[in-house]
Amino acid sequence: MQKDDALRRLRDPGRVLPEKQTLLSNIAAQAEALRMPCYIVGGFVRDLLLGAPINDLDIVVEGDAITLGKKLVETYGGKLTPHFKFHTAIWHIPATFNLQPATLDLITARKETYERPGVLPTVTPATLEDDLRRRDFPMNSMAIRLDGEHFGELLDPLHGTLDLENKLIRVLHAQSFMDDPTRIFRAIRYQLRYAFNLEPATLSLINAESLSTLAKLSGERIRHELDLIFEEERAAEIMRQLNQLGVVTRIYSALPDFNPSYDEVLEMDATLDVPANRISLGYILWFVNLTEDEIFAIAARLGFSNEQTLDVWSAAQLKRSLPYLLGSKPSEWAYALEKLPLLSIYAIYLISGEKALLDYISFWRHVKPYTTGEQLKAQGLAPGPRFGEILGQLRTAWLDGALSSKTQEEALLQRLIAETNCS
Ligand code: CTP
Repeated sequence: MQKDDALRRLRDPGRVLPEKQTLLSNIAAQAEALRMPCYIVGGFVRDLLLGAPINDLDIVVEGDAITLGKKLVETYGGKLTPHFKFHTAIWHIPATFNLQPATLDLITARKETYERPGVLPTVTPATLEDDLRRRDFPMNSMAIRLDGEHFGELLDPLHGTLDLENKLIRVLHAQSFMDDPTRIFRAIRYQLRYAFNLEPATLSLINAESLSTLAKLSGERIRHELDLIFEEERAAEIMRQLNQLGVVTRIYSALPDFNPSYDEVLEMDATLDVPANRISLGYILWFVNLTEDEIFAIAARLGFSNEQTLDVWSAAQLKRSLPYLLGSKPSEWAYALEKLPLLSIYAIYLISGEKALLDYISFWRHVKPYTTGEQLKAQGLAPGPRFGEILGQLRTAWLDGALSSKTQEEALLQRLIAETNCS
């Protein structure tokens, strides 16, 4: 890979959208005005050189990132969220840039020292090279300079380009996984995403010693890594690899293996009106065979929200009760399912193929009678529990095929009202 490749690729609208190019040249101009060396670092550079889809942008400056952030807001608008402790800032980019995501991380180049494995590091301002050395893998430790005449210069002191050419994932030093065990997840995620290999010495560092530090990671940090995995195309394979390396049971002893056949299942059908949440679907599929106690214990370890816990728990309950529901009438399915999250129902449909679940999602849950509560009042019925019963009976009749027209519904309604008046 040639050094001027970076500049050529950076200017290629097929790789970097024109809106992003405008953003980069504006940042370059403001950094130049402040005489502040300014770089794009990390994943953007890696994916630019690989020709892979580019996601977020991280900017590192040798100087004060908050000062650059203020200048950007002054010149182009938007808002700044500064973090004075770490000299970083988030620039909320104004809508005129037409960018998604509409935020940009501005970071002051820093050194990190780890006092204990698994805890967050102590941070001090430093040079760009120090900043690159604190990172996980050489392929993530490259930078492209932006300010002034340096625009497009690739800085690769740790030979990340060589690793990209050799398709290698390699830690920068033997202590890396001990310092930050989330890098174990990251290594496997990149391995499967790019079809790269783990360098043998790096693989041997995923050992009993580094795995034991996983227990010290907070639930939130582990969950963040798992969330990122479920967003990957080859999520099931990543999970299997982590399991084989002994990572999964170190997170929590009762964590099961992720069923390898669920890879395809993770692809959500966008035509169904179910909130598409690949991450929650991933956890549901992973934990669906666990007991209630196990689910609650794991949810506590991973710091799940109530909603996520409910999604997983409901799916596990539904899977267990499925044999008892088979052969039920549509109305019975509808009443059994209507309190459950749609995503949980959808997940169980995906793994069981039970058509009634799909019918519920696509049709039955939308079935309701023409008659409304207001109309019952207008017919002289006093509001009360009987209202709900009548509307429920009409709905049941529609669901189970006893009604097929508004006139038939009207006739049934009159019968039900007559029964009410008699009783
Ligand atoms: N990084 C690191 N160690 C971590 C997390 C992040 O060294 N545990 C560094 C890497 O240099 C990485 C950068 O921070 O490139 C940004 O991290 P992140 O946004 O998580 O990853 P990306 O590289 O952008 O890659 P992707 O989101 O595609 O995984």
